Amino acid sequence: MSELTDLYAEVAQCQRCDLSKSRKLTVPGEGPATAALMFVGEAPGYHENQQGRPFVGAAGRFLEELLASIHLTREQVYIANVIKCRPPGNRDPQTDEIEACRPYLDRQIELINPRMVVTLGRFSMAYFLGKQSISRIHGQPHPLDDRIIYPIFHPAAALHQPKYRAAIEQDFLQIPQLLQIEPAEPPAPAPQQLSLF
Ligand code: URA
Repeated sequence: MSELTDLYAEVAQCQRCDLSKSRKLTVPGEGPATAALMFVGEAPGYHENQQGRPFVGAAGRFLEELLASIHLTREQVYIANVIKCRPPGNRDPQTDEIEACRPYLDRQIELINPRMVVTLGRFSMAYFLGKQSISRIHGQPHPLDDRIIYPIFHPAAALHQPKYRAAIEQDFLQIPQLLQIEPAEPPAPAPQQLSLF
């Protein structure tokens, strides 16, 4: 068995948090073990929990359309989530759940070693980049640990909201060139304003 398959087996038995009590199936992620491009969503929803696969509902179909816009299929990329079990009623993941699940995603990234991680939505963005505003930083590549972290809106949010939809479509179109070109160094922080008051 490969290390990735071992990891899937471990996730399937996981009881690190209470989501293990309400889940039907764990959703570890899927895709080629050597994918250069990895997508990280938030958490499994209803359909993912039923099927044990990431992004198989409406958001997944939109993700596949977005991939097609850059001539890729879902089989060519790795798709995972920050947490591997569905939160009841699709509520937001809690901090303790994200922390309990952290070793799994960290290990996946280590094993797959993607060139670029596209974060889908604010929870995934925060996982890699800390507290930021996704409206401000979406579509901006961030170098981290020898890879590019590329935050974009979540396809589920973008699906029905024209403003986010236009943004995610545009941000997607930058992916091919970002995969080939080194992103620029982030700008140096602005000098602190000194104030006497
Ligand atoms: N939304 C996510 O963030 N992940 C999925 O797998 C499905 C929907």
